[in-house]
Amino acid sequence: MILRGTASINGQGHLEIGGMDTEQLVEKYGTPLMVYDVALIKERARMFLRVVNQKGVVGRAFYATKALNTTALLQLLAQEGMGFDVVSGGEFYTALKAGVNPKNILFHGNNKNREELELALSNGIGTIVIDNFYEIELLEQVAKQLGVVVSCLLRVTPGVDAYTHKYIITGNEDSKFGFDLNNGQADRALSYLHNHEVFDLKGIHSHIGSQIFGEEGYMIAMDRVFSKLLEWKIQHGFTPRVLNIGGGFGIRYSMRDHLKPYEGFITLVVEKFIKRCHEIDIPVPQLWIEPGRSVVGEAGTTLYTIGARKEIPGIRTYVSVNGGMTDNIRPALYQAVYEAVLSNRMLDETEEEVTIAGRCCESADVLVENIKLAQAKPGDTLAIFCTGAYGYSMASNYNKVPRPAVVFVENFKDQLVVRRETYDDLIQYDFPLEVEE
Ligand code: LLP
Repeated sequence: MILRGTASINGQGHLEIGGMDTEQLVEKYGTPLMVYDVALIKERARMFLRVVNQKGVVGRAFYATKALNTTALLQLLAQEGMGFDVVSGGEFYTALKAGVNPKNILFHGNNKNREELELALSNGIGTIVIDNFYEIELLEQVAKQLGVVVSCLLRVTPGVDAYTHKYIITGNEDSKFGFDLNNGQADRALSYLHNHEVFDLKGIHSHIGSQIFGEEGYMIAMDRVFSKLLEWKIQHGFTPRVLNIGGGFGIRYSMRDHLKPYEGFITLVVEKFIKRCHEIDIPVPQLWIEPGRSVVGEAGTTLYTIGARKEIPGIRTYVSVNGGMTDNIRPALYQAVYEAVLSNRMLDETEEEVTIAGRCCESADVLVENIKLAQAKPGDTLAIFCTGAYGYSMASNYNKVPRPAVVFVENFKDQLVVRRETYDDLIQYDFPLEVEE
């Protein structure tokens, strides 16, 4: 078991986070409950900002809000000095409403629509990351109509296979994202956007994938991008003011994940970045990153209450909890592996191996397979660690299960940042059948 951030075990054998006894949180807010360790989030934000601002490089870190997008979180990260990566009108709107300066937002996505582009541009968004030719056309129309210049990056696909789950890979050649570096598409886009009256092309973006454990993939992508930058410098006189290498920094979900320490491996990437700029003789651009999972993932813990138990002799024992794929789809979708404990009995001896089942009517709704726990009884609290990224943000109301509450904890204080959904919330968009008179 890995205890992260401020997590510890108190004298009563309960899990504590941010100085708060999780059993007291369970009593106050009910379960399922998502608890975020604010100190750990701040530590990560500061680390990423530090690591891209070293060795004379000027860097920016844009938190990828798809990992978790709530008002309080965006406010917290804005205070820390992060910018924000959004991928939809909804994420952009949430950031605006949270009071984020639109100049510090960059907009991603492979199919941004006209309304989203209008919303972003009319609100003075800092950067649009252009993904495809259709988007160039749309942007040009919208920008002309609004009378604005589009400050943008060109997203290229570096063709790197980052050895991660196939649904999470984005940088390889068979990708729905970005302009291919090898087949002439990126060249065509660059020559159109560079020196265009409506576009201010600040630089290049590449993202290789997610849950990546070391520098290798970033290094390969950087080599490919710089080879292209050299060509573009010679052929078009283009030199970037920004190189955005995306996000994707992995986290340790369990002991099986062998992650290199961030500062070390990102420093290697920064050093290579400087070296490659010197080699192709361009001024060192700003270096941007877009971490999502690594900012909030390990800071999040989900607390569930244990209910039913089913023993199948010779096969396995299922222990069911009062949440599941509705608050964490990752095990079902990516076969993601998590660690869990009985957080109200942390000091009890491990006695049995069980499989933690969610409550949904779906056999795939299993949260953790074959995990060793103390003998679990109905009413015990099960904590699953490392659920902070792509858990709540990918949550659904399947089986009409309300989404959980989200709580921040720090320095012996707790704060509700998203309230639990009610049954009335679940039917708020429904209209009754119209009856003919
Ligand atoms: N930038 C871009 C362009 C991205 O596509 C992504 C993630 C990120 C940044 C942030 O990546 P991160 O630092 O969080 O790895 N739902 C999946 C992950 C999908 C990631 C999509 N793009 C999961 O639960 O594993």
